Amino acid sequence: MPTFNLKINGKSQQVETEADAPLLWVLRDQLNLVGTKFGCGIAQCGACTVHVDGSAVRSCSTPVSSLEGKSITTIEGLSDNGGHPLQKAWIEHDVPQCGYCQAGQIMNAAALLDKNPNPTDHDIDTAMNGNICRCGTYVRIKAAIKTAASNLQ
Ligand code: FES
Ligand code: FES
Repeated sequence: MPTFNLKINGKSQQVETEADAPLLWVLRDQLNLVGTKFGCGIAQCGACTVHVDGSAVRSCSTPVSSLEGKSITTIEGLSDNGGHPLQKAWIEHDVPQCGYCQAGQIMNAAALLDKNPNPTDHDIDTAMNGNICRCGTYVRIKAAIKTAASNLQ
C-alpha cells in the first residue's frame, strides 16, 4: 500500500493506506482522532467536516491522496483546551443535544468565521445549510455563532 505524508493539527503524520481511502477513516481508524464523526458517508450531512488549508471539507469524501502538502485541522486541533470562541459560545448557549453532529457544526462555523468574522444571518444560514442536526439544535447553533462573532469584534 502507498504511504502518504499528511500534516494534521500541526503535526506531520505518515499513513499507509489505499490512495482512495477517505480522510475520515484515516483520522478515526489510524490516528485515533475520533472527534470527527461518520454520518452519511456521501457528503450530505457535515458530521465529518474538517479544515483543509483553512476551508471546511467533508472528510468522508476526500481521498487521502489529494491531501499531501496540505494542512488538515480536526476538532481536536481547533484550539488548545477548547478555547476557541465558538467552543466557548457553544458552552454558553448549551448547544449540543446528543452531540453527534456538533464537531462538524463547529468546524464548519469556524471556517465561516475565519473568512467572514462578522457574518449576517443570511451568511450563517448559507454557510451552515449543509450541516444536518437530527436533534434540531439549529437555533442554538446560530445564536452561538453570533455570540462568537461578536466576541471576535
Ligand atoms: S459523513 Fe461526511 S458528510 Fe456525512
Ligand atoms: S446534537 Fe444530535 S444530531 Fe446534532
